[in-house]
Amino acid sequence: MLEIINAAVKQLTAVGADKAKIGLILGSGLGDYAECLENKRFVNYADIKGYPVSEVHGHKNRFVVGELYGKTVIAMQGRFHYYEGYPQNVLSLGVRTMKMLGVEKLLVTNAAGGVNLGYKSGTLMLISDHINLSGSNPLIGKNLDQFGPRFPDQSNVYDKALRTQLKKLAADNDVELEEGVYLMMSGPCYETPAEIRMARTIGADAVGMSTIPETMVAAHCGIKVVGISLITNMAAGVLDQPLSHEEVNETAAASAIRFTNLVNLILEKLF
Ligand code: HPA
Repeated sequence: MLEIINAAVKQLTAVGADKAKIGLILGSGLGDYAECLENKRFVNYADIKGYPVSEVHGHKNRFVVGELYGKTVIAMQGRFHYYEGYPQNVLSLGVRTMKMLGVEKLLVTNAAGGVNLGYKSGTLMLISDHINLSGSNPLIGKNLDQFGPRFPDQSNVYDKALRTQLKKLAADNDVELEEGVYLMMSGPCYETPAEIRMARTIGADAVGMSTIPETMVAAHCGIKVVGISLITNMAAGVLDQPLSHEEVNETAAASAIRFTNLVNLILEKLF
């Protein structure tokens, strides 16, 4: 594990990623945001020895390093998923690579299904907390003490001070932003209507197949996390229609401007 991280750190340092204090993980259909960075440098996951590659359509599988608002940013354009068959500790590689490069704040984004009946396709949700029903945990296995403790606290995984500031920034800039709890299931099947009713009963507002492993690993090593879900569809059983990955990508594309505005706000004024 450490060898793979070290190989990634070396290649990314060669393109100046060691100046980045800000990390960005771009979810399904949201990867285009990385094109906003100036003076872009790329490192493909496939060119880093031992690094996994996501096979999900819409993921570009590379690190993008660049500048925005005078700050160096390292973005993952495409992430790995548990349902692709990787153990969850493998999902931690990108975040730990960022930690070793010096990243202090991480924005994680995803496409998610709306569980909260007040949401609609296109809603932007600030993640306040999460429920891990993925069936695993990225910190299972030998603890790497240099990253954090064996039994990490999870009471402020999505940094409360940053959330408070972001809600004010969003309101001041006329950006509509809900706040809610993200629940992760393993996928790759979308959930059943019964699972979504359960998710709602236990306090979830949105459901997806990613983000929680990366967030847990980031919190473990002391990176401050802000999480944004784009609700690309209402979750199973809410509307009388089947769910599809095409719908997810279409909504992501249709919401690109609002998503970009929110991420710009975070990178310019919050981070
Ligand atoms: N469920 C799980 N993951 C998702 C969904 C959903 O409805 N939409 C986008 N990602």
